[in-house]
Amino acid sequence: MDSIYGSYGPALQAALEDIIGRIRAYSDDIKAKTGEAAYEHLIYRIKSEGSMREKCDRKGLPQTAYSALHDIRDAIGIRIVCCFLDDIYRAIDFLKSLDGVRVVEEKDYIRHVKPNGYRSLHQILEIPVFLKEGKTFVKVEVQFRTIAMDFWASVDHKLRYKKNVTNEE
Ligand code: GTP
Ligand code: MG
Repeated sequence: MDSIYGSYGPALQAALEDIIGRIRAYSDDIKAKTGEAAYEHLIYRIKSEGSMREKCDRKGLPQTAYSALHDIRDAIGIRIVCCFLDDIYRAIDFLKSLDGVRVVEEKDYIRHVKPNGYRSLHQILEIPVFLKEGKTFVKVEVQFRTIAMDFWASVDHKLRYKKNVTNEE
Protein backbone atom coordinates (compact mmCIF):
# COMPACT_ATOMS: atom_id res chain seq x y z
CA MET A 1 0.00 0.00 0.00
CA ASP A 2 1.26 3.51 -0.80
CA SER A 3 1.98 5.88 2.07
CA ILE A 4 -0.97 7.98 3.16
CA TYR A 5 1.42 10.94 3.03
CA GLY A 6 1.83 10.39 -0.71
CA SER A 7 4.92 12.18 -1.99
CA TYR A 8 4.98 14.50 1.03
CA GLY A 9 6.88 12.14 3.38
CA PRO A 10 10.22 13.89 2.78
CA ALA A 11 8.61 17.33 3.28
CA LEU A 12 7.27 16.23 6.66
CA GLN A 13 10.67 14.92 7.68
CA ALA A 14 12.40 18.11 6.52
CA ALA A 15 9.89 20.32 8.33
CA LEU A 16 10.26 18.37 11.56
CA GLU A 17 14.05 18.47 11.43
CA ASP A 18 14.01 22.18 10.71
CA ILE A 19 11.72 23.16 13.56
CA ILE A 20 13.36 20.83 16.08
CA GLY A 21 16.77 22.24 15.14
CA ARG A 22 15.50 25.75 15.75
CA ILE A 23 13.94 24.79 19.10
CA ARG A 24 17.20 23.14 20.23
CA ALA A 25 19.19 26.21 19.22
CA TYR A 26 16.77 28.35 21.24
CA SER A 27 17.25 26.04 24.21
CA ASP A 28 21.05 26.26 23.96
CA ASP A 29 20.77 30.03 23.79
CA ILE A 30 18.57 30.24 26.91
CA LYS A 31 20.89 27.87 28.74
CA ALA A 32 23.92 29.99 27.84
CA LYS A 33 22.21 33.21 28.90
CA THR A 34 20.49 32.09 32.10
CA GLY A 35 22.12 28.83 33.11
CA GLU A 36 18.64 27.30 33.25
CA ALA A 37 17.15 24.87 30.74
CA ALA A 38 14.44 26.31 28.46
CA TYR A 39 12.35 23.19 28.95
CA GLU A 40 12.42 19.93 30.83
CA HIS A 41 11.96 17.71 27.78
CA LEU A 42 11.08 17.82 24.14
CA ILE A 43 9.41 14.98 22.27
CA TYR A 44 8.23 14.78 18.71
CA ARG A 45 6.99 12.35 16.11
CA ILE A 46 5.52 12.00 12.67
CA LYS A 47 2.18 10.25 13.11
CA SER A 48 2.52 6.63 12.03
CA GLU A 49 0.81 5.39 8.92
CA GLY A 50 -1.54 3.22 11.03
CA SER A 51 -2.55 5.97 13.46
CA MET A 52 -3.15 8.42 10.62
CA ARG A 53 -5.38 5.98 8.73
CA GLU A 54 -7.26 5.18 11.93
CA LYS A 55 -7.76 8.91 12.63
CA CYS A 56 -9.08 9.51 9.09
CA ASP A 57 -11.62 6.72 9.66
CA ARG A 58 -12.59 8.07 13.07
CA LYS A 59 -13.18 11.54 11.58
CA GLY A 60 -15.08 10.18 8.58
CA LEU A 61 -12.40 11.37 6.15
CA PRO A 62 -11.10 9.43 3.15
CA GLN A 63 -7.63 7.96 3.67
CA THR A 64 -5.83 10.42 1.41
CA ALA A 65 -2.77 12.67 1.63
CA TYR A 66 -5.13 15.65 1.57
CA SER A 67 -6.95 14.42 4.68
CA ALA A 68 -3.67 13.57 6.40
CA LEU A 69 -1.97 16.90 5.69
CA HIS A 70 -4.79 19.40 5.38
CA ASP A 71 -7.84 18.24 7.37
CA ILE A 72 -5.79 16.56 10.09
CA ARG A 73 -3.23 18.90 11.52
CA ASP A 74 -1.03 16.76 13.73
CA ALA A 75 0.88 14.65 11.20
CA ILE A 76 3.82 16.41 12.84
CA GLY A 77 3.48 16.61 16.62
CA ILE A 78 5.82 18.27 19.08
CA ARG A 79 5.47 18.42 22.85
CA ILE A 80 7.47 20.85 24.95
CA VAL A 81 7.31 20.05 28.65
CA CYS A 82 8.55 22.78 30.96
CA CYS A 83 9.10 23.20 34.69
CA PHE A 84 7.31 26.52 34.98
CA LEU A 85 4.53 28.46 33.24
CA ASP A 86 6.95 31.27 32.43
CA ASP A 87 9.04 28.83 30.42
CA ILE A 88 5.96 27.95 28.37
CA TYR A 89 5.12 31.54 27.51
CA ARG A 90 8.75 32.27 26.64
CA ALA A 91 8.83 29.26 24.30
CA ILE A 92 5.55 30.35 22.69
CA ASP A 93 6.94 33.83 22.06
CA PHE A 94 10.01 32.29 20.52
CA LEU A 95 8.03 30.09 18.11
CA LYS A 96 5.82 33.01 17.12
CA SER A 97 8.89 35.10 16.34
CA LEU A 98 10.34 32.59 13.86
CA ASP A 99 10.77 33.71 10.30
CA GLY A 100 8.06 32.37 8.02
CA VAL A 101 6.18 30.53 10.77
CA ARG A 102 2.43 31.19 10.86
CA VAL A 103 0.27 30.46 13.87
CA VAL A 104 -2.96 29.03 12.49
CA GLU A 105 -4.68 28.30 15.79
CA GLU A 106 -4.08 28.40 19.49
CA LYS A 107 -6.14 26.50 22.10
CA ASP A 108 -5.43 27.44 25.66
CA TYR A 109 -6.45 24.60 27.94
CA ILE A 110 -4.11 26.07 30.53
CA ARG A 111 -6.37 29.04 31.22
CA HIS A 112 -9.47 27.11 30.16
CA VAL A 113 -8.99 23.75 31.87
CA LYS A 114 -10.95 20.87 30.31
CA PRO A 115 -13.64 19.29 32.53
CA ASN A 116 -11.48 16.17 32.89
CA GLY A 117 -8.62 18.27 34.29
CA TYR A 118 -6.54 18.24 31.11
CA ARG A 119 -4.30 21.27 30.73
CA SER A 120 -1.95 22.19 27.87
CA LEU A 121 -1.62 24.94 25.35
CA HIS A 122 -1.92 23.74 21.77
CA GLN A 123 -0.69 25.61 18.75
CA ILE A 124 -1.16 24.71 15.13
CA LEU A 125 1.70 26.21 13.13
CA GLU A 126 2.43 26.29 9.44
CA ILE A 127 6.09 26.21 8.62
CA PRO A 128 7.69 26.67 5.22
CA VAL A 129 9.77 23.91 3.67
CA PHE A 130 11.77 24.29 0.52
CA LEU A 131 11.64 21.36 -1.85
CA LYS A 132 12.78 21.04 -5.42
CA GLU A 133 9.15 21.66 -6.43
CA GLY A 134 9.32 24.96 -4.55
CA LYS A 135 8.14 26.28 -1.23
CA THR A 136 5.33 24.55 0.59
CA PHE A 137 3.77 24.95 4.03
CA VAL A 138 3.46 22.09 6.47
CA LYS A 139 1.25 22.02 9.57
CA VAL A 140 2.67 21.21 12.97
CA GLU A 141 0.85 20.71 16.28
CA VAL A 142 2.82 21.90 19.28
CA GLN A 143 1.66 21.07 22.81
CA PHE A 144 3.11 23.07 25.69
CA ARG A 145 2.70 21.76 29.24
CA THR A 146 4.32 21.85 32.62
CA ILE A 147 5.58 18.60 34.15
CA ALA A 148 2.56 18.57 36.46
CA MET A 149 0.14 18.94 33.52
CA ASP A 150 2.02 16.24 31.62
CA PHE A 151 1.63 13.82 34.49
CA TRP A 152 -2.13 14.42 34.54
CA ALA A 153 -2.44 14.10 30.75
CA SER A 154 -0.59 10.77 30.80
CA VAL A 155 -2.89 9.29 33.41
CA ASP A 156 -5.95 10.64 31.58
CA HIS A 157 -4.65 9.17 28.31
CA LYS A 158 -4.19 5.75 29.93
CA LEU A 159 -7.75 5.85 31.33
CA ARG A 160 -9.16 6.86 27.97
CA TYR A 161 -7.60 3.99 26.05
CA LYS A 162 -8.02 1.39 28.75
CA LYS A 163 -11.25 -0.50 28.16
CA ASN A 164 -13.71 -1.34 30.92
CA VAL A 165 -12.71 1.31 33.42
CA THR A 166 -15.66 1.18 35.82
CA ASN A 167 -14.69 3.79 38.40
CA GLU A 168 -13.14 6.59 36.36
CA GLU A 169 -13.95 9.16 39.04
P1 GTP B 1 -7.82 15.89 17.60
O1 GTP B 1 -7.99 14.97 18.79
O2 GTP B 1 -6.41 15.85 17.10
O3 GTP B 1 -8.85 15.75 16.55
O4 GTP B 1 -7.91 17.34 18.09
P2 GTP B 1 -8.89 18.52 18.30
O5 GTP B 1 -9.12 19.20 17.01
O6 GTP B 1 -10.07 18.16 19.15
O7 GTP B 1 -7.85 19.39 19.08
P3 GTP B 1 -7.34 19.46 20.55
O8 GTP B 1 -6.39 20.60 20.46
O9 GTP B 1 -8.44 19.51 21.53
O10 GTP B 1 -6.54 18.12 20.78
C1 GTP B 1 -5.31 17.85 20.15
C2 GTP B 1 -4.53 16.78 20.89
O11 GTP B 1 -4.35 17.16 22.27
C3 GTP B 1 -5.18 15.42 20.98
O12 GTP B 1 -4.94 14.65 19.83
C4 GTP B 1 -4.48 14.84 22.23
O13 GTP B 1 -3.16 14.45 21.92
C5 GTP B 1 -4.38 16.05 23.13
N1 GTP B 1 -5.54 16.15 24.02
C6 GTP B 1 -6.62 16.95 23.86
N2 GTP B 1 -7.50 16.79 24.86
C7 GTP B 1 -6.97 15.86 25.70
C8 GTP B 1 -7.40 15.27 26.93
O14 GTP B 1 -8.46 15.57 27.46
N3 GTP B 1 -6.58 14.36 27.50
C9 GTP B 1 -5.39 14.00 26.94
N4 GTP B 1 -4.63 13.09 27.57
N5 GTP B 1 -4.94 14.54 25.78
C10 GTP B 1 -5.72 15.45 25.17
MG1 MG C 1 -3.94 14.77 17.93
